[in-house]
Amino acid sequence: MKKIFMDHASTTKVDKEVIDAMLPFFSEYFGNPLSLHSFGREARKSLDQSRKKVADLLDAKEDEIIFTAGGTESDNIAIKGAAYQNKNIRESRGPHIITSAIEHPAVLETCKHLETQGFKVKYLPVDEYGIVKINDLKDSISENTFLITIMLANNEIGTIEPIEEIGKIAKENNIPFHTDAVQAIGKVPIDVNKLNIDLLSISSHKIYGPKGVGALYIKKGVKIQPIVHGGGHEKGLRSSTHNIPGIIGLGKACELAKKRMEKDTKYIKNLRDKLIKNVLQIEESYLNGHPEKRLINNAHFRFTGIEGESLLMRLDEKGIAAATGSACSSKKLQASHVLTALGLSPIDSHGSLRITLGRENMEDEVSYVSEVIQEIVDQLRSMSPLWTK
Ligand SMILES: Cc1ncc(COP(=O)(O)O)c(C=O)c1O
Repeated sequence: MKKIFMDHASTTKVDKEVIDAMLPFFSEYFGNPLSLHSFGREARKSLDQSRKKVADLLDAKEDEIIFTAGGTESDNIAIKGAAYQNKNIRESRGPHIITSAIEHPAVLETCKHLETQGFKVKYLPVDEYGIVKINDLKDSISENTFLITIMLANNEIGTIEPIEEIGKIAKENNIPFHTDAVQAIGKVPIDVNKLNIDLLSISSHKIYGPKGVGALYIKKGVKIQPIVHGGGHEKGLRSSTHNIPGIIGLGKACELAKKRMEKDTKYIKNLRDKLIKNVLQIEESYLNGHPEKRLINNAHFRFTGIEGESLLMRLDEKGIAAATGSACSSKKLQASHVLTALGLSPIDSHGSLRITLGRENMEDEVSYVSEVIQEIVDQLRSMSPLWTK
């Protein structure tokens, strides 16, 4: 059976060029970049080159990038780091963070943890498409707000937030602005200066790089405290011996993302639009998220009268990998916090399916997957007590 991977928001296959770039760094150039001998110097040179490649993708400077163990760690370093830097705000309302209700758990759980430590957090609601309302943001700012953290694009529904406007407001109010760009990187052109971004998280495995490595952009002059203490690597903000093969892989993945962004965008967006057009021909099927302001590879549907998990399992039996709309991380099968924030009922949320396309998907796969979805939706509806037609 042919296998079709359409779950690129969860992870991506490592690009062959990335693997080739990484391989020599396991056994040939295995030095520790902090060592003073030739092995260390070789590793150091490659570390610096990777830093430049990451910086180039963001229009940042090399010394504004630190390497981390992935998107989750970058988010934690940025948010907790800013919080510890500002813990002494002791005015009546306490130090204050503004975020959105639809962030990835890497941000939401970090904010929830900080609430237990005395920090105040405002979780901004979103509209029916998942877009943060600018007036709510403006109204939430107080003299104690020390960080705004709002994702660039959502990992479930693919909605792209009005980052330029948010960055402008943050700058006007002199508040550092962090954005989780894990899903957006390589798909949305990012110029951190133009967008007034102070802190930005990325992860390698979403852009055809290896897992377990990421980076955090920290604008020159922005101060955060370390959350991991040790040998003082990465300006003291992320101690631990560098994962050189991973960092080389991330650098190469960023270089390729920059080189291929235009071509990838055209190709993948075309596939996504075909998929959306086909699938929306199914009776009582809907697109979740914004029709235009969405990631080029994201198609997120809901189907009346069926259950996303059953659809997913039947797709899997046919070799097709996708994701459900309801993030069932809890055993209670809770509806996704993102879909709930859009105002969807638990029943509608559970009837959702996320398909995220990638470079290696082909047009005939899109046609095949659309047909299989139609077939399975029909089968499930014929057995569903929720489908009364
Ligand atoms: C928006 C977003 N932020 C953070 C992460 C976490 O990244 P990582 O898996 O590298 O820790 C993910 C992963 O799915 C994500 O989609």
